[in-house]
Amino acid sequence: MEISIVGSGYVGTTIAACFAEVGHDVVNVDIDEEIVETINDGRAPIHEPGLDELVVEHAGDRLRATTDYGAVRDTDATFLALPTPSEADGHIDLSIMEAGARSLGAALAEKDDYHVVVTKSTVVPTTTEEVIAPILAEESGKVLGQDLGIGMNPEFLREGSAVSDFLDPDKIVLGAESDRAKATLRGVFEPLAERAGEPPIVETGVAEAEMIKYANNGFLAAKISLANDLANICKEYGIDSEEVLEAIGLDHRIGAAFLGAGVGWGGSCFPKDVAAIIAAARDVGYEPAMLQAAVEVNDRQPVRLLELLRGHVDPDGARVAVLGLAFKPGTDDIRNSRALPLVDALVDAGADVVGYDPVATENFRERYPDIDYAETAEAALDDADAALVVTDWPEFADLDEAFDAMATPIVVDGRRIVTRREGIVYESLV
Ligand code: UDX
Repeated sequence: MEISIVGSGYVGTTIAACFAEVGHDVVNVDIDEEIVETINDGRAPIHEPGLDELVVEHAGDRLRATTDYGAVRDTDATFLALPTPSEADGHIDLSIMEAGARSLGAALAEKDDYHVVVTKSTVVPTTTEEVIAPILAEESGKVLGQDLGIGMNPEFLREGSAVSDFLDPDKIVLGAESDRAKATLRGVFEPLAERAGEPPIVETGVAEAEMIKYANNGFLAAKISLANDLANICKEYGIDSEEVLEAIGLDHRIGAAFLGAGVGWGGSCFPKDVAAIIAAARDVGYEPAMLQAAVEVNDRQPVRLLELLRGHVDPDGARVAVLGLAFKPGTDDIRNSRALPLVDALVDAGADVVGYDPVATENFRERYPDIDYAETAEAALDDADAALVVTDWPEFADLDEAFDAMATPIVVDGRRIVTRREGIVYESLV
């Protein structure tokens, strides 16, 4: 099939390359000329394992990028993969989506045949039908249900495994306003489903598809927060939380994934999506107590880490090494990293902070130019009065004699990653 993707960000580029990989002809539309050129040159504009290979293979053949919205007219369906950033009160900002829908609608005005527009971005329930579809209809002059079809196809990609998550999904969710739009969406996903061993395809309404994305992320974030709540209780009793959580994970009704207790969840999705669905729920008159509690537990974990540190050393004037600045291992992304509130609190408490991360240091430095940074974990630990572990980079498991260089070998581990050894004072957050 001929498919267009509007937006060459993290999701847009990944799905464009993956749709090309499964055999579609794909055009990726973006207003950024540099990104368009990068893709057409056969390079991925973002770093994601496996993506470069796909772009190299398909660029100039089944994959091309352009700044011209008119390219969508030669395709059967367009996926809108534009950013939906957070506003200060948690609501999502739809201005980029609305502008994209206007340009797309205007381009479709000159297309006679049926066309399906699919929301790929994360938007709160009813946005596609009540905000996006009317803009498309108005700009294109098309009639919804006649020559314009509407769909919603949420994405569950994780940073660091986006390509494999897309090509081997647990499920494919296809929301559509009509049988005809649904049939087009089915056609788009058929080759992917075949290649992935026929994962379940959930065919549903547009607003249900929108909600599935929030329910999925809200559930996972709350699962981690519940694991953290339980682990905090274990900690107060002096019980090993890892053993407890591993044991409950064996119950198939619970499952082992996302029970990793520690300093909490960050990233570009969980905090934004949980805030957005809480704000949206309140707009429709419902107070989501569980999701709100999940946020509160998450906000508390970095504070607890600092409290534990205070049990060993007064942070005022102390040299504190913060190990791990990225929101999770395997990425240089610091968005909503737990290191952010922690470094804030340490600086407020008068600590002399030295940060270390294998790849995220430069991004963190832009936010905090005034703390020290070390090139290696060993250098960060050198002469430090204490170390706080915030991200579970595997290398933190083998620091071993690096701890000997600390002024006082106090390690407060927010991710239960450090291997305990003689000679260090080790305390785990959970
Ligand atoms: C997440 C969702 O997993 C993905 O489906 C969605 O499309 C986007 O958001 P991502 O943000 O890339 O993906 O990261 P993920 O691996 O899910 O981790 C999110 C956060 O939770 C990280 O800060 C991680 O450290 C934390 N986490 C994860 C835990 O604290 N414990 C766990 O057991 C798992």
